[in-house]
Amino acid sequence: MTALSAPAASRGCACCCEPSEAELYVRLDEVIGEYRDKPGGLIPALQTAQSVFGYLPEPVIRKIADGFGKTVSEVTGVVTFYSFFTLHPRGKYLVRVCLGTACYVRGGKEVLDAFKKRLKIDVGETTPDRQFSLEVGRCFGACGMAPVVMVNDTVHQRVKPARVGELVNRILAGGAVAVEKEQA
Ligand code: FES
Repeated sequence: MTALSAPAASRGCACCCEPSEAELYVRLDEVIGEYRDKPGGLIPALQTAQSVFGYLPEPVIRKIADGFGKTVSEVTGVVTFYSFFTLHPRGKYLVRVCLGTACYVRGGKEVLDAFKKRLKIDVGETTPDRQFSLEVGRCFGACGMAPVVMVNDTVHQRVKPARVGELVNRILAGGAVAVEKEQA
């Protein structure tokens, strides 16, 4: 399998300057203030809030609902409709297996099953050590290289079920969520 270059995007700050919870909520107030009067502002507000907190815990949903004059169930409905939102903390590595048509017919389902077996979790779950979360995607725009798996921002192409264990080991060793060119 091959992996495309990874954008420099980081999924979290690894330094010692983690913001306090109070600071996160101050940022949330700013986000709500920024989007509440904009048409269609709820989705970008939720996206920004998720990037701030890493996920959308219930108190954040409640605060956003208040800010936008909606009920908690309305906002929760939006969050659960879109797969890119999560109500639970994700692992360090977010594995998304494409089950779009091209990937599905070329073995995406078998790749997904291999990840489930190797990680011992189902879709939507996170390993107890918070290393991996497993999700599915519909198309990552790399259909010619199906089946495709994204791990954080790295696209892995032509993934073979039999090599999933090796891929997981390489991720854990820090070598598979970066630019790779080798064939698996
Ligand atoms: S269907 Fe999987 S990348 Fe398009």
